[in-house]
Amino acid sequence: MECNYLNYHGLPLPRIAHSEDSLKYFENFQVNDDDVFAITYPKSGTTWMQEILPLILNGGDFTPVQTIPNWDRVPWLEETRAALVMDTIAPPRVMVSHMPYNLMPPSFYSSKAKVIYVARNPKDVMVSSFYFHQMASFLDDPGTFEEFIDKFLEGKVLFGKWTNHVRSWRNTDLGDRILYVTYEEMVEDLKGVVRRFADFLGQKMSEETLEQVVSHCTFNTMKTNAMSNYSLVPQEVLDKTKSAFLRKGISGDWKNHFNPEHEKKFTAVIKEEMKGSNTQFPWDD
Ligand code: A3P
Repeated sequence: MECNYLNYHGLPLPRIAHSEDSLKYFENFQVNDDDVFAITYPKSGTTWMQEILPLILNGGDFTPVQTIPNWDRVPWLEETRAALVMDTIAPPRVMVSHMPYNLMPPSFYSSKAKVIYVARNPKDVMVSSFYFHQMASFLDDPGTFEEFIDKFLEGKVLFGKWTNHVRSWRNTDLGDRILYVTYEEMVEDLKGVVRRFADFLGQKMSEETLEQVVSHCTFNTMKTNAMSNYSLVPQEVLDKTKSAFLRKGISGDWKNHFNPEHEKKFTAVIKEEMKGSNTQFPWDD
């Protein structure tokens, strides 16, 4: 199927999820001071955040994560369903967005809304994205892995270049309104990360609730949760015979896909584009 992207300030956004109206809704959205945003570049842990954050904010009530699909439970602000479900979200509202910092709605900047930014090793993001492009009928065919490396580095994928996204959110005026975390930290120490999130959001959590939340948000448990594993999406939209949405859930899968030349080329481009960003990630040399 031929992809049908909208061009939004130079970013390719798939028409199945975004329309002129949904983007207008996004731009005019009135951010409240108690809103919470999880911001990610696609394939960096968005779905995971949609599971964790409601549990923290509602004191470990499992009903929403067991009964409401993730896209209605934690709306994706620039996506078409946001306008339909936003009014059903009890405050503090939690939502996700893939937008770069400079394109957030005007009311966001003057609000006190908090942000958790999740970054993931771009090599693993690219591998995850490659499989996602294979399974999603509404995206361009990724081509070979080799071809997809070039598309990814050129930003000819969902939401453009990884480096632009990360740089934009690493250079904000948000001060203590923003918390940075990596997908890799979440994989390594989910309990510690959930505790950090709760502290950042001013939520008290008993040890027992914390343990329950962590156990519910593991990869294997989420994979079996129909409200979170995208099994509700029709096969002709997301072809689960090609890949699972919750595919592997590990760090370092890139090592199973990149050869030394891929690695060299990819690292050189990312390194060059991250120059001067004052950002050091665990995966950098
Ligand atoms: P993989 O394709 O590498 O497995 P997003 O939600 O931003 O699209 O990101 C999807 C990626 O996050 C997928 O990566 C998915 O498996 C991973 N993921 C989702 N929930 C996870 C969890 N509980 N633990 C680890 N990884 C998770």
